[in-house]
Amino acid sequence: MSDKRKELIVSAISNGTVIDHIPTETVFQVIKILGLNKTKNQVYFGINLESKKYGSKGIIKISDKYFETEEINKIALVAPSATLIEIHDYEVFKKSSVRIPQNVNKIVKCFNPNCITNKEDVDTKFEVFYDESGSLKLSCHYCEKNTSKENIVFI
Ligand code: CTP
Ligand code: ZN
Repeated sequence: MSDKRKELIVSAISNGTVIDHIPTETVFQVIKILGLNKTKNQVYFGINLESKKYGSKGIIKISDKYFETEEINKIALVAPSATLIEIHDYEVFKKSSVRIPQNVNKIVKCFNPNCITNKEDVDTKFEVFYDESGSLKLSCHYCEKNTSKENIVFI
């Protein structure tokens, strides 16, 4: 970027959260799983933005919103490279990388239609593991079936 164009590509926010370094192809999914398509808060996003680290990236900025662990875990499952930045009074207050949790509770559906969690009012519970090829899988605590990353449906 030349020195002539120093302003932010996506507008700065006064208070809220910036989700940076999202793979462009998952930006809309992140918007959906966080319910940002239904929020009353101001939301800005950018896709196919330049990134030194990743070549291309997506970014989402939400005014007046700070995420809870469950929401951060959802982001981690979809966009493990994401960085969360808390903004207070226009300043960067805190930066953190999201981390894929060891256990995923309540936020994802079990892929097995016969699982008790799909038949009765039972919260889902999974352990995260990686198969031989390094793909992320969720092992259901109840039916022991595996839900792979591509089949993850958020509750
Ligand atoms: N940001 C924002 N509103 C603010 C301050 C910062 O939206 N009031 C955003 C910036 O656009 C940037 C992120 O928060 O995407 C982090 O800000 P900063 O640390 O200042 O940017 P960089 O140093 O460029 O961060 P990095 O190199 O880690 O991407
Ligand atoms: Zn199950």
